Amino acid sequence: MVKVTIPQLLEMKQKGEKIALLTAYDYPFGFLEDEVGIEVILVGDSLGMVVLGYENTLPVTMDEMVIHTRAVRKAVKRALLIGDMPFLSYQVTTEDAIRNAGRFMAEGGAEGVKLEGGKERIETVRAILRAGIPVMGHIGLTPQSAARFGGFKVQGKSAKEAKNLIEDAKALEDSGVFSIILECIPKEVAQVITETLNIPTFGIGSGSFCDGQILVIHDILGLNEKFSPKFVKQFVNLTPIIKGAFENYIAAVKKGDFPNSDHSFKMKEGEFQKLKRMVRTEKKQRKK
Ligand code: KIV
Repeated sequence: MVKVTIPQLLEMKQKGEKIALLTAYDYPFGFLEDEVGIEVILVGDSLGMVVLGYENTLPVTMDEMVIHTRAVRKAVKRALLIGDMPFLSYQVTTEDAIRNAGRFMAEGGAEGVKLEGGKERIETVRAILRAGIPVMGHIGLTPQSAARFGGFKVQGKSAKEAKNLIEDAKALEDSGVFSIILECIPKEVAQVITETLNIPTFGIGSGSFCDGQILVIHDILGLNEKFSPKFVKQFVNLTPIIKGAFENYIAAVKKGDFPNSDHSFKMKEGEFQKLKRMVRTEKKQRKK
């Protein structure tokens, strides 16, 4: 097992080797992703929507993110583990941003943080980096600013918008981020950004020219019935499989088929007879 590092990701980009990322929010999925060789695991603030049942990512707190990052950390030995800074954990002051990024590292065991935004975040990115914390950028359709975009809409469709995104990406690279997520931008724009930068780009809904791809695990596993955007590919549909298992369990409990002797424990030889005698004696004494 060779631990994935930031320099190794840069090397992969130079060699043209594609990089596979996924989100994870707990120990079991972190474990499985690490076992099969996912290179970067992001504890995304999508946690709010796919695990905690929130309408969007805005209510997710630092405490929630730290708990889930710590759970994933326990399982992950090889992949690079990144914590996603939730809404208002880095937008108010740089002091807040450094302290919260530090919590991901010290309490969550992350190896870096991700935050949303372009030119407007450069000062914050530099401050976090000065504290010794690696930063991943995230531009395009940044969900924490969805209200500003008028909803979940593809960004960078016009030349003017695309140029702005390219400038954001370049400014982030110059500030020292080690990679950038490109979310929901046209593939041509993602290609220009990927070819312009020396650091890797990771696409989600941004086409195949990016250096790597990231998706939310609940989407690829068919565990998010409410949400299926065009860019998601469902690699397996676990919902009917899991529902089927639950239904079989209910039926077995109701019929008395579960548990059977395979799933039950037995007393030591002769102890059951002893117990029955003790219960009988006690009953008789109570009647007297
Ligand atoms: O929160 C998240 O999971 C993300 C990725 C989808 C990029 O930001």
